[in-house]
Amino acid sequence: MSGAGDKTYNERISWKNRLNVAFLFIRIPLTLLIYTLSSPFVPSNVYTAKPLKRRLYDRFVQVISRLSIAESALLPRRSGLNVYQQWIKGRSPDLVSVVDELNVSVNEGKENPSTSCQLLWVGPKQTDRVILHFPGGAYMFPVSEMVFKFWRYAQLEWEKQGLKVGIAVLSYTVGSGKDAAFPIQLVQATRALKYLLSMGCDLSNIQLVGDSAGGNLVAQLLLHAAHPVPLPIPPLELPAGARLRGVYLMSPWVSLCDSEQWGSSIRTKDDDIKTGRSWGNIYINNIPNGNDSDVSLSQLLPYADPISAPNGWYSSLPTIVDRILVSAGKEERLLDPVQTFFDTKIQPYFGDTNGTLILQDGGIHDDPFLDFAVADEPLENSLTAVILGWIAEGFSNR
Ligand SMILES: *[C@@H]1O[C@H](CO)[C@@H](O)[C@H](O)[C@H]1NC(C)=O
Ligand SMILES: *[C@@H]1O[C@H](CO)[C@@H](O)[C@H](O)[C@H]1NC(C)=O
Ligand SMILES: *[C@@H]1O[C@H](CO)[C@@H](O)[C@H](O)[C@H]1NC(C)=O
Repeated sequence: MSGAGDKTYNERISWKNRLNVAFLFIRIPLTLLIYTLSSPFVPSNVYTAKPLKRRLYDRFVQVISRLSIAESALLPRRSGLNVYQQWIKGRSPDLVSVVDELNVSVNEGKENPSTSCQLLWVGPKQTDRVILHFPGGAYMFPVSEMVFKFWRYAQLEWEKQGLKVGIAVLSYTVGSGKDAAFPIQLVQATRALKYLLSMGCDLSNIQLVGDSAGGNLVAQLLLHAAHPVPLPIPPLELPAGARLRGVYLMSPWVSLCDSEQWGSSIRTKDDDIKTGRSWGNIYINNIPNGNDSDVSLSQLLPYADPISAPNGWYSSLPTIVDRILVSAGKEERLLDPVQTFFDTKIQPYFGDTNGTLILQDGGIHDDPFLDFAVADEPLENSLTAVILGWIAEGFSNR
């Protein structure tokens, strides 16, 4: 099940790990207190212009994200479905739970571990125009509530303009164990898109969104469509001549291997949350290869680490999707890889009309979503309006 407890590391959890987690009860309040007291004295910049409550939340995430994998396995963990149901409960009776349970099986014919994923609908299931969102979480953590809040806000804003959009968030398998290894998420993502098509959605009325690891998954899916993964997994055969209306990648995690090779942002952007290097290594190291499979790692790595895929693999993307928007924060650790990814894989093939890169002043990783962790609307976040406008433009130009 998606987001099920991560048992792989339990046996390796030491007393030091437990102590570190226990110390969070002191470290978190202390960090927030020190930040609050010192904040009037730090030099002001675009990031520090954000409301204090937002910056305090960012500090909280920073502390949590410094935990090791073994330590984070000790934190209470809910599945994506639980997170969604909890959110719906708080919005009842305005919203009701709408969930599609999608069954998938990886490796037909082989060992056949079967695992399901869910489409979690924000608002009514509306299939004329649909956003399919793959949420982030380093392939380790399930979707969080701020994502649903963001989309509900967007949906109501679009409704005010007379635009009705169905929004489906995919809860896919995460964790540090082999059962969460590539290509399970890609199989689930393929299943989700095919499911929308089977419901009668038109490809040209679907826009695909991915943030962080979800952006990585969108890239996997596009590459799988353009250049199928050499594994016995279901292909993504799209209706001939039809294209996805749009793809939006927010802070996409396109570089899992040694991000420093693309620039220094990964080391120098201290306001950002730590996007753990070890998480990328775990995902890459779990890719079945060599003796586990007939396919070598070098054949699969370009999908999981899409910045390292040959540029030519991207050249046919304009036959699969009309337009692509990529955004990153100027204060984000992933800034350099995202910029390189756009410059080498997207811009050359989509040009300036259909390919757009936005670098947000003062923004950090997944910045537009983070506002919704502490508020019900964007906190002076100009990027949010741009994203909503770009998506709406895609839907209304039909
Ligand atoms: C997935 O399997 C469950 C249980 O077997 C079934 O109830 C459900 O309808 C299946 N979902 C789809 C989309 O086929
Ligand atoms: C792979 O299999 C070969 C032959 O069975 C064996 O000699 C080798 O040690 C194995 N390699 C690993 C990494 O398990
Ligand atoms: C942008 O995309 C549309 C639809 O795919 C295409 O017709 C158009 O030629 C593209 N524009 C440029 C400048 O590539």
